[in-house]
Amino acid sequence: MKKHFLEMESIRIEFPGVLAVDQANINIEAGEVRAIVGENGAGKSTLMKILSGVYANGSYTGQIRIDGKAVTFNGVSDAERNGITMVPQELNLVDELSVAENLFLNQLPATAGIVNQQALYSKAQEILTEIGLDVSPTIKVKELGVAQKQMIVIGKALGNQVKVLILDEPTSTLSDLESKILFEKIREFKHAGIACLYISHRLEEVLSICDSVTVMRDGRIIQTSPTREMNEQKIVSLMIGRDLNHYYPPITRQPEKIKLSVRDYSVYDLKLPDRKVVDNVSFDLRAGEILGVFGLVGAGRTELAMGLIGAWQGKTEGRCLIDNKEVHVSNPSEAIRAGLGYLPEDRKRQGIIPDMSVSSNISVSSIDKISNFGVIDKMKEVETNKKFVSDLAIKTATLDTHIKTLSGGNQQKCILARLISVDVDVMILDEPTQGVDVGAKTEIYNLLDQLAKAGKAILLISSDLPEVLGISDRVLVMHQGKLVASLDPQKTNRHQVLGFATLGHDTNIGEDVSG
Ligand SMILES: Nc1ncnc2c1ncn2[C@@H]1O[C@H](COP(=O)(O)OP(=O)(O)OP(=O)(O)O)[C@@H](O)[C@H]1O
Ligand SMILES: [Mg+2]
Repeated sequence: MKKHFLEMESIRIEFPGVLAVDQANINIEAGEVRAIVGENGAGKSTLMKILSGVYANGSYTGQIRIDGKAVTFNGVSDAERNGITMVPQELNLVDELSVAENLFLNQLPATAGIVNQQALYSKAQEILTEIGLDVSPTIKVKELGVAQKQMIVIGKALGNQVKVLILDEPTSTLSDLESKILFEKIREFKHAGIACLYISHRLEEVLSICDSVTVMRDGRIIQTSPTREMNEQKIVSLMIGRDLNHYYPPITRQPEKIKLSVRDYSVYDLKLPDRKVVDNVSFDLRAGEILGVFGLVGAGRTELAMGLIGAWQGKTEGRCLIDNKEVHVSNPSEAIRAGLGYLPEDRKRQGIIPDMSVSSNISVSSIDKISNFGVIDKMKEVETNKKFVSDLAIKTATLDTHIKTLSGGNQQKCILARLISVDVDVMILDEPTQGVDVGAKTEIYNLLDQLAKAGKAILLISSDLPEVLGISDRVLVMHQGKLVASLDPQKTNRHQVLGFATLGHDTNIGEDVSG
C-alpha cells in the first residue's frame, strides 16, 4: 500500500446526541494544500481538532499516521511537538498580555526564570514583519481588531516548527490585502514541504489556493478531488446535496421614508483622543432598504456602528436621528429602546453566552416579548425559537444544547436570530454571514430581503464584496474613517468599489459614480 505523508483512517467521534465525524479517511502529501469544505456543522473543525490534539487520544476512534508511523496525541502541545499546529476558528489569545507575550506564550525566552524582554520583543518583531502586521509587539492584544488578532494567531503558528498547518476559516475576518499576504505565506509553506489543511466557506479562495478539495457532509467525507476537476457549482452541490441556483434574491425592494439619519458623525480614537477613527460621516438609511457598508479592515465601519449604538468607550460627535427625531444613547440597551439594534462582529467576545442554551441565547435580548407580567412564557419561547432554528437551519441537537458546542456558523446564526427577535426598526449587522456556509448564506439573504420588505431599515457592514454588491440597494464605501462613495451596485463593478476602499477615490477615470 502506498504510504502518504499524513493519513487519517476511520476517524469517528461522538458527542451527546451528535455523531460529529464518522468513517473519515484523509491522506495528505507533504507540501499539499488541501481544502476541507462543507456546511455548518458538517464536522470540519471537529476532524481537524482531532488531528491537532484538541480531542486527545481516547476521545475518538481511528488512526492517525505520519510517514506511516501511528501517532497519538495527549493534547495540543503534544501535537505541536509532532509538527502539527492548528489556527482555530475561535481565537484563543490572552487579551491582557502583549502581542509579543502571546506570540511566545509557552516558550518565552528566559534566563533563570526571568523573561528576557529585549529578546522577546525583537523575536516578536521578526514575526510581525514576516506576517506584515504593523503593530507594536508591546501593546496588549485587547487593543487589536479581530483581523489583527487573527494574524497574530497565524504568526504564532509560524513561530513553531510546523509540518502540518491547519487553518480553520482564517480569512473570514481578514481584509483582502491581509488574505493575500496569508496566501503568499501558504505558497511559501508549500514550497518548504509543509502540508496545509484549509477550512473555508469562501469557495473562490479554495479554488485559487488549494491543490485538492475534500467535501464533508453530516460528519462524513463525501469526496476528495484535485481542484482542477472542481468548480464552485460542483463543490456546492456536493456540500449541500442539491444545486443552488439563485444566490441573491432579486432586488425588488422599494425603499420608503428615511428611518435613520446620521449627520456629521465622528468617533474618536480611544488612545489618541485627537484622532478620528470615523470622520464626519453623514448618510440616510430608509425603511425597506439594505444599505451596504464596505471598507478595508480599519476603515472605521465597526467603530461607526459601536458609536451609533452607544457602545463606544471614547468620544463621539455629531447627530443620529430616527424618524427625524434626534436620539441620544449611552449604551446598547438604550439603543434598542430607541429602535436601533446591532449584530456584533466578534461573536465570541460580544455575542454568545457560551454556557447558556441555544434557546436562552436567542431570547436573551427579547425577554419582554416572550414574558407575561415579568414571567417568561416557556411555551412561547420554545415556539418562537423553534421557528428560528428551522428558518435559519440552525444545526443543534436540541434547543437546550449549550451554544458553545455548536459549530461556528451555527453560533453565528443564533445571534442573528437574537437580533431579529428583538424586532427593532433599524438593524446594524456587522459581518452577519461570517463563517456561514453557502447554503445558509442564501437563507440569510432571503431573510434580510424579507425583513427589509417588512419595513426594516438594514445597515449591512461586510467585507465580502460580492455579498455587499449582491444584496444591497446602495453601497457606502469607507476609507480611513471617511465616507468616500455612495454607489449603486447595479452600476458598479468590484474593481471600482475596491478602488474607493483602498485609495479613497475612483480609479475608473472619467466615470463619475459617487454622490
Ligand atoms: N464539544 C462538543 N459537544 C457537543 N457537540 C459538538 C461539540 N463540538 C462539535 N459538536 C457538534 O458536532 C457537529 C460538527 O461540528 P463542527 O464544529 O465540526 O462543524 P463545522 O463543519 O466546523 O461547522 P462550521 O462551518 O459552522 O464551523 C455539530 O453538530 C456540532 O454541534
Ligand atoms: Mg468549524
